[in-house]
Amino acid sequence: MASSLTFLPFSFLLLSLISLSHAQNSVRPRALLLPVTKDATTLQYLTHIKQRTPLVPVKLTVDLGGNSLWVDCDSNYVSSSYRSARCGSAQCSLARISGCGECFAAPKPGCNKNTCSLSPYNPIGHISTSGELTQDVITMQSTDGTNSGPLVTLPGFLFACGSPTILERLASGVTGMAGLGRDRIGMPSQFAAAFSFQRKFALCLSSSTISSGAIFFGDGPYVMLPNIDVSKNLIYTPLLINPVSTAGTYSQGEKSVEYFIGVKSIKINEKRLSLNTTLLSINNKGVGGTKISTVRPYTVLETSIYNAVTQAFTKEAVSMGIKRVESVAPFGACFSSNSIVSTRVGPSVPLMDLVLQRESVYWRIFGVNSMVKVSDGVSCLGFVDGGLNPETSIVIGGYQLENNLLQFDIATSRLGFSSSLLFQRTSCANFNFTSTVS
Ligand SMILES: *[C@@H]1O[C@H](CO)[C@@H](O)[C@H](O)[C@H]1NC(C)=O
Ligand SMILES: *[C@@H]1O[C@H](CO)[C@@H](O)[C@H](O)[C@H]1NC(C)=O
Repeated sequence: MASSLTFLPFSFLLLSLISLSHAQNSVRPRALLLPVTKDATTLQYLTHIKQRTPLVPVKLTVDLGGNSLWVDCDSNYVSSSYRSARCGSAQCSLARISGCGECFAAPKPGCNKNTCSLSPYNPIGHISTSGELTQDVITMQSTDGTNSGPLVTLPGFLFACGSPTILERLASGVTGMAGLGRDRIGMPSQFAAAFSFQRKFALCLSSSTISSGAIFFGDGPYVMLPNIDVSKNLIYTPLLINPVSTAGTYSQGEKSVEYFIGVKSIKINEKRLSLNTTLLSINNKGVGGTKISTVRPYTVLETSIYNAVTQAFTKEAVSMGIKRVESVAPFGACFSSNSIVSTRVGPSVPLMDLVLQRESVYWRIFGVNSMVKVSDGVSCLGFVDGGLNPETSIVIGGYQLENNLLQFDIATSRLGFSSSLLFQRTSCANFNFTSTVS
């Protein structure tokens, strides 16, 4: 049974597994929508869904590189629709799980006999536990791309169950993580299969801790007030596959489900830095290269890259008449705000370009995404030193993603990015969440 299933096309398999009942939803949605807010204390990006029977709200930290959604099922998980995946079932082969789990305590959500084990991982607390693959009902907001629309229900959404010990260092009230990785049980792939969307999703993080940004599952339009479709005018670069998993726990031969791009060089004020290019590509052990992450608040650079960036940036800044001041941890290059002019795209500081597949294709980082205000008079270059020999040389973090639209196309392995939306006179906080249904 399991082996014959592997010959079916992936989306057909997923569709039948998630056993979506369109009948429950009067119309097939065009796309789905999650609001995302920034937590002021932890700088994590948070979202919420409704799950279980009866439905309860579940607060989650967004993990762009996570393989699936996971929640703490140990504390107060009550649901009549909870179904753990039996060993050897189609659900387990979809999640590529061969291990069979036992539970040595009384059965409960997260601990059942004869279920396939899936260990959820928290990359912020660097911790994982044993857990099981399971299914339950979730509901989400749909969208036409302009407003939020009717709620839709997925009866058999696949996720992992963990225990409260792995909530370490997650924001207050959070009980799990929303994994957006390119795994078949990642949220984008499950939604795409359930609603016959293209396997595309878009991330638009707000810089505000009050106004929400959004994640859209499915294709554009993604319309921000005042009526600007930010899915237009994107620049495209290939998403690269890292042949070795970068997760906390994985089995041999597993590829990374994170999103890597090919940064070939870095320029500051259009001048190319001299970098060790070996660090910029992913080697056969999965080390090196550049990935995008929502669980790092600021971009993390390998030490030699970090030093080259801060030195060149400081030199250019000083030549623009900007005054350097004492550093404020965790940053290494800080400046007097009084010496910096403001523009629509933030402080007028040296421009940074991440040069991609060709010289003419680059991700430009303006002051609003490079400078962090640490006190009234001081702003710092918002990049941190990742030390020598990190697994990934460049991890583009949340602050550098804010008010940029990023569209991940899993099927064609391509990233579309907008650079700062402030240039288009809008922002990620400008989606009109007012529902068109009452
Ligand atoms: C460049 O980086 C690689 C990988 O860390 C290292 O083995 C090599 O020695 C570095 N080359 C130089 C010139 O520093
Ligand atoms: C948001 O959408 C609602 C419903 O379509 C509409 O009535 C309202 O005017 C919109 N808000 C703005 C600021 O355009």
